[in-house]
Amino acid sequence: MSKIKWPGSVLLAPVPPVLVTCGDGDNENIITIGWTGVLNTKPPMTYISLRPSRLSYEIISTTREFTINLSTVDLVKAVDFCGVKSGRDINKFEAMNLKSVPGESVKCPMLAASPLSMECRVKEIIPLGTHELFMAEIMTVHVEDALIDANGKLHMDKANLLAYVHGEYFGLGEKYGSFGYSVRKKKKKKTVKKTN
Ligand SMILES: Cc1cc2nc3c(=O)[nH]c(=O)nc-3n(C[C@H](O)[C@H](O)[C@H](O)COP(=O)(O)O)c2cc1C
Repeated sequence: MSKIKWPGSVLLAPVPPVLVTCGDGDNENIITIGWTGVLNTKPPMTYISLRPSRLSYEIISTTREFTINLSTVDLVKAVDFCGVKSGRDINKFEAMNLKSVPGESVKCPMLAASPLSMECRVKEIIPLGTHELFMAEIMTVHVEDALIDANGKLHMDKANLLAYVHGEYFGLGEKYGSFGYSVRKKKKKKTVKKTN
């Protein structure tokens, strides 16, 4: 495979284009965030990177709380809209008809239409350059019950999650394996001897 060398740039993909809710009371807002990810397992830690020019930056710097709502294919229009319009000019909940539900561990709302919401409390804010990284602990997770089977297993694949790849939105495609499948021993097939 031949490759062209470019200067360092943020071409990590796919990333989850999540809908982050923030604020409490009058200043509630939604912002689409692509720069997010997992930082630690125990305690469960995540981050979002925000440009200081965002209204959501002002709100989250003050309240030090936010909620990450995973987005689905059905939410793609809201994801894009909340990523190009500012809460300074428009109420994005109303404009996209997004119902909110009250938070439990944090004061900001969650999105009813998201299959999985994570209530986060900011632990540290690290200025990086264009963006500031808001490192946060995930206090509580709310999961759509239809995604959990009778044995308590979570089936995220049924949520129709959205992916963001270099400026474009995609659904998730085929499943090609599961954790550890490459080393898992195959079950031997029982051979039935023919008697006639
Ligand atoms: C797919 C997508 C991902 C985005 N990711 C980020 C991000 O990680 N950080 C950020 O500061 N802005 C990001 N933006 C831009 C903000 O969502 C956008 O500027 C928004 O209008 C800010 O809203 P606010 O002023 O109401 O907070 C993203 C936009 C889109 C469409």
